[in-house]
Amino acid sequence: MTFDQAAGAPRMERPAQTKPPVIRVAQPGDGATVEALAQVALGADGVVPAAPGAFAAAIDRHGGRLVLPHGTGCALVARASAAPGDPPLGLAYTCPPVRLIDQYAELGPRGQRRLAGALAELELLAVTAPARGAGVGTALLAAAEEQLRSGGCRLVFAKVRSADRPVLRWYRRRGYLPAAPGEPVTLDVDGAWTVFDDGGDGHRLAVKPLAPDERIRRVFASGGTYLASM
Ligand SMILES: CC(C)(COP(=O)(O)OP(=O)(O)OC[C@H]1O[C@@H](n2cnc3c(N)ncnc32)[C@H](O)[C@@H]1OP(=O)(O)O)[C@@H](O)C(=O)NCCC(=O)NCCS
Repeated sequence: MTFDQAAGAPRMERPAQTKPPVIRVAQPGDGATVEALAQVALGADGVVPAAPGAFAAAIDRHGGRLVLPHGTGCALVARASAAPGDPPLGLAYTCPPVRLIDQYAELGPRGQRRLAGALAELELLAVTAPARGAGVGTALLAAAEEQLRSGGCRLVFAKVRSADRPVLRWYRRRGYLPAAPGEPVTLDVDGAWTVFDDGGDGHRLAVKPLAPDERIRRVFASGGTYLASM
């Protein structure tokens, strides 16, 4: 699958990569590539683990579409071109928020699957340092959102380090609403309410509605505010 880069006018000097990247679902054997890019997303730029972890092993075996509890994850890899051996530029990995959905056991397996279809987490997004500022991250985000949207997803969220204001701004410019630290987000799926927050671990949620009729609004309640997706 190939996605084109979303159009956008550059406002700063760009690095050498000017052509839209080629974005594809990771292939079997891409485990080490995905693992290295995951380290970039996690803030350890350039650190490649000596032995690939479970995530890399799963990608090596199955490619980027991973069967998870309640639904599927999807790893997209951006490269400068489709030429074999072209170095990877970036990664986007989306998945159902498994631990959150586990907490809603009362929904039953079908209800949990419905929730997993409606709510997704952008768990990893990273562009290698030399490729940044050329639109690769924007293109990866657009491709990941398009995949989720076409699968019926209504709401996607990312967890951004609270201190990382440039990245929070980056998401805001791409339609994400940053929640305040600790601010809950609610989503109604067929009359069942799901409530989640950043977990107080130094991150903030950035949320974006994906369905055309989905809206997020900040609700002022007696105990504080929350973001309601409806
Ligand atoms: C956040 C990240 C994915 C963005 O990817 P990117 O490919 O640099 O993003 P884009 O090129 O699409 O957009 C870059 C923005 O920065 C500006 N920019 C220009 N030159 C830049 C440069 N050298 N480096 C970074 N940004 C630059 C662009 O003008 C654009 O601004 P805009 O938001 O006003 O459009 C990337 O910086 C990254 O991997 N960061 C480290 C990991 C991380 O923080 N991931 C997010 C975890 S939630």
